[in-house]
This record gives sequence, C-alpha cells and structure tokens, in this order.
Amino acid sequence: MQNPFLGYDQIEETAAWLDERLEQKPQIALILGSGLGALADEFEDAQRFEYETIPHFPTSTVKGHAGRLVFGKIEGKYAVAMQGRFHAYEGWGLDQVTFPVRVFARLGCKALFVTNSAGGINGDFGDGDLMLISDHINLTGRNPLVGENDERLGPRFPDMSDAYDIELRRFALRTAREMGIHLKTGIYAGVLGPSYETPAEVSMLRRMGADAVGMSTVPEVIVAKHEGLQVMGISCITNMAAGVNDQHLDHKDVTAVAARVRGHFIKVLRALIEGLPEA
Ligand code: HPA
Repeated sequence: MQNPFLGYDQIEETAAWLDERLEQKPQIALILGSGLGALADEFEDAQRFEYETIPHFPTSTVKGHAGRLVFGKIEGKYAVAMQGRFHAYEGWGLDQVTFPVRVFARLGCKALFVTNSAGGINGDFGDGDLMLISDHINLTGRNPLVGENDERLGPRFPDMSDAYDIELRRFALRTAREMGIHLKTGIYAGVLGPSYETPAEVSMLRRMGADAVGMSTVPEVIVAKHEGLQVMGISCITNMAAGVNDQHLDHKDVTAVAARVRGHFIKVLRALIEGLPEA
C-alpha cells in the first residue's frame, strides 16, 4: 500500500478544505470503533464527507472499507466523527492512521473520544463490559512520531504521563455511576495485529499489567497528545483474550458482541458528550 508522507502542508490543506465547507466547527472528535458508527447517524444538521472526496485522506479501494467524516450536533455539542478508522495492520502508514486526528486538532477540537473493541485480560472482565482506558502500553513496535519533528505540530518529546486525561476519567466514572452503569477501568495494551494474540502473549501482557488488548487507538492517542488534545478512551470488551478461557477467537463473535452492546455504549457516549465540560 502506498505511504505518501503526510505532513504539515497536507494537514493544513485538508483542514482548510473542510473549514470552507463546514457550517459549524467541531469541539469534540470521536473515533468510533466497531459498530459504533451508528452514533454519527444520529447527528443533527449533519454534514458528511466520504473519505475519498477529502483531499489527502487515506482511501482504500478494498470493498467494505468505505468511510466518512460526519460533522454535526449531538447532545448540544458540535462534533466530528470518523465512521471507519484506519488500522496499521491494514498496511497504512502511521501518518495516514493518525492524519484525521491532526486535521481535527487544526479544526479546533479540544477533546478526542476514542472507542475500540478489545480482548479482556483482567479476570474480573466479561464479554460486553465497557472499560475506561486509564493508560496504554504501546506494543506495536512503532510510533507515529518517528522521523523529523515538525514543531508546528507538537513537541519532539511529548509527555505521556496523563495520556488519558485524569479529569475526563473522573468525569466519565462519575457520569457512569449516576447512570447506574459499572464502567470498568484498565490499561490497554496496543498491538499491531492482525493475528490475535497467542495464550503465551496474553500471559505476558497480564504480567506487564495490561487489562485488555487491541489493535488500534495507540497511534491516534500519541498524536492527539502531540497536538495537545485531551483524550478519553473506552474499550468494549468483546471477548476474553486468547487463553483466558477455553473459547477460541473468531472475528464474527467479536462483531456480534460489539453489536449487542452498541445501544448501551451509545447511551454512555451520549451522556459523556452531553456532560463534557466546555474546554
Ligand atoms: N485481541 C486483540 N484485539 C482485539 C481482541 C483481542 O482479543 N478483541 C477485539 N479486538
């Protein structure tokens, strides 16, 4: 797959192109993982842009990889959502995977909500649980900031000690509690994929302190921190990771659980968007 380098000029061009067309600027960016794209279908006054029509946006001709940005109002806030994200395991460069996050920052977003599906490692978790991400471990072997640093985008060595904003985490836990929902909390191990982990790898991840494992999110969050965005992440535990129980992993089961939890997950996200303090 092609990997043209996407730098400052492309980011600015894309942001300017969108800016010219937008009726309202977004305050929050949402990266909607497996099955959650439905939330963006509920935006009011929505403006939709297919990825292939947006300058410099990564596009794929592979069937089933269609994607779009949806801008609009949800729970009184202006938001932009990605319906369809880019994964490194699909062959995208990390500049492509994280390009939308840079554009969202240029459009004025101050917060990024990122959701994903993950395999549960913590024995207290079960299928369908929602886990607020407290931190991550980058095990992809890659980092989107490798290469010459452009100071216009962010610092050479961004601080990751509060990658998942502590205030947003407190707010999320409080909001969930008020809704009578038990939001689990844990550390997300980000791996490259696309093969699922072996039981030995999951055993290693557990000893490292990981509560869940998934194949997305980490590059986007690193770039969001580089851009100075506040990040909140929630994983849907779609399965227990390999070897945690005697179940074999099948992507069909993962998507089935994501679909089962969708309505509940969307309710939580709506409440978080509604209650989000103005930046
Ligand atoms: N491992 C990695 N990624 C995943 C899993 C898993 O078990 N489930 C959903 N995404």
